[in-house]
Amino acid sequence: MRLDKFLNDCGIGTRKQLKEYIKNGMVKVDGVTASKPDVQIDPEKNEILFSGENLTEGYAKYRYYIMNKPQGVVSATTDNHDTTVIDLIDTKFDKDLAPVGRLDKDTEGLLVITNDGKLSHSLLSPKKHVEKEYEVHTLKPVSDDDIKKLSEGVDIGDEKPTMPAKAFIEEKDGKKLLHLIIHEGRFHQVKRMLNAVDNEVTFLRRIRMGQLSLDESLEPGEYRELTDEELEQLKNNEKSF
Ligand code: URA
Repeated sequence: MRLDKFLNDCGIGTRKQLKEYIKNGMVKVDGVTASKPDVQIDPEKNEILFSGENLTEGYAKYRYYIMNKPQGVVSATTDNHDTTVIDLIDTKFDKDLAPVGRLDKDTEGLLVITNDGKLSHSLLSPKKHVEKEYEVHTLKPVSDDDIKKLSEGVDIGDEKPTMPAKAFIEEKDGKKLLHLIIHEGRFHQVKRMLNAVDNEVTFLRRIRMGQLSLDESLEPGEYRELTDEELEQLKNNEKSF
């Protein structure tokens, strides 16, 4: 890519400012002062310094993060009022980062964040049926009949009922906890499914997407890069039920 595009992606300045910076000798490529903004560079191979700061350290064309999204933060790239999940990521390379799908502001749990649009698109494609597993806290107990209805599909006011899902109860810390595994991504789907069985979600946490599970050592708001193995798991996202 062009040197000035890379510098602009790093938030160093506008194209016009960058022209000046380069003219003033503030940018070095592999130890040599750059003379033109349109010189071709590869940030994965070349070392770019701006005023002595190494901009290419830690650069990778594609970046993949796993986050335990906290409540109160929105799954968007920018927002006028709320903190976004991208605001939580401390990187100078956040330009094209975006969350893969959305969790509601009050939902916690697994969120993948990447600048790999192709992977994101594939994970979100309705045709791929990528499973999403949620722990669902409810206002009222969930009956066997509710489990049956949630599993078979319920009318949530859309044109079509929800597709077959997996629903089961786990005993956790002496309490009964509903798990719901869906492979669609309709707006507020889990909340609306519980409303359809005359119940209400009081707390929602996503714990899995495809083969990728939430890292339980990540506190809400924490994130880290995906390991190569996890990235493989994510790419291996065919429906598994
Ligand atoms: N379903 C919901 O209702 N909310 C979410 O955040 C995710 C799935």
